[in-house]
Amino acid sequence: TWTTGNVIEEQVAAIREQVGTKRAICGLSGGVDSAVAAALVQKAIGNQLTCVYVDHGLMRKGETEQVEKDFVAATGVQLKVVDAQERFLNALAGVSDPEAKRKIIGREFIRVFEQAQAEIVAEAGAGGEDVAFLVQGTLYPDVVESGGGTGTANIKSHHNVGGLPEDLEFELVEPLRQLFKDEVRMVGQQLGLPDEIVQRQPFPGPGLGIRIVGEVTKERLDLLREADAIAREELTAAGLDREIWQCPVVLLADVRSVGVQGDGRTYGHPIVLRPVSSEDAMTADWSRLPYDVLGKISTRITNEVDEVNRVVLDITSKPPGTIEWE
Ligand code: XMP
Repeated sequence: TWTTGNVIEEQVAAIREQVGTKRAICGLSGGVDSAVAAALVQKAIGNQLTCVYVDHGLMRKGETEQVEKDFVAATGVQLKVVDAQERFLNALAGVSDPEAKRKIIGREFIRVFEQAQAEIVAEAGAGGEDVAFLVQGTLYPDVVESGGGTGTANIKSHHNVGGLPEDLEFELVEPLRQLFKDEVRMVGQQLGLPDEIVQRQPFPGPGLGIRIVGEVTKERLDLLREADAIAREELTAAGLDREIWQCPVVLLADVRSVGVQGDGRTYGHPIVLRPVSSEDAMTADWSRLPYDVLGKISTRITNEVDEVNRVVLDITSKPPGTIEWE
């Protein structure tokens, strides 16, 4: 029978066997999955593990600081932070197609990890073969929806599955590959991670890069970051965080509509709110949020975010829509 204790015991043994005396690195995204994967691997191999946090510039407001603070405080893990904002922006320049974006982001993550590996090896003064393992917080639904399951259609390439480059130099360690999100949360809790990490709402590895419909630019990211921060602030203030699974905030950068603000005509972009309820992200329903909360978010976003003159609500379940727009 399934218990979190069994899962932890089995995975710790499997990780020790796989990694042996070598070193491993783990990409931390700030999300639950990579945090729990890292904690499991740390339990198995201690400080043979170094976590790498890639700041790709596609993060939400305050997220980078949170990883540096919360996760390190909770686990004492060795953390390397890499500023890769320019690298990702350059790689994404001119790209609008969602699958192309996902593949570019997946590839750039790996390239950054390879560079980090070289630096970690150099710092440790060890041989080049020393870091051969990359830990990822891949879950069962990521595998299924990237077409890696048993005969399922490829829905989208999750950055850590279908988005990986073919010339991958690392051997992957994926201790959560058979688990669903709620199980991962239980494992995290049992490993002693704090609620701020374990109960965090899901956020995709490719970040805001797949929440801008159209080309990803610095200006658009800044704009979306503002809108997203307002939505999160109001949802938290209304006590709705535990009621919804997550609420993607999406910028329709290629769409414009006419508005009137102050005493003039505007021609701006719409922001989409996509609050959903779900058990495991495989299916989802749109959340029936109170109108006054939605109204407040709309008023604040249109008042406070330049170039946004309309806020719309996505009332599609999954299927037929996916949770993210790309
Ligand atoms: P979709 O859009 O496929 O999303 O209905 C299902 C869940 O997965 C998250 N998601 C991702 N997470 N890397 C991730 O780590 C990805 O590439 C990715 N794509 C989607 C999404 O936020 C939702 O919780």
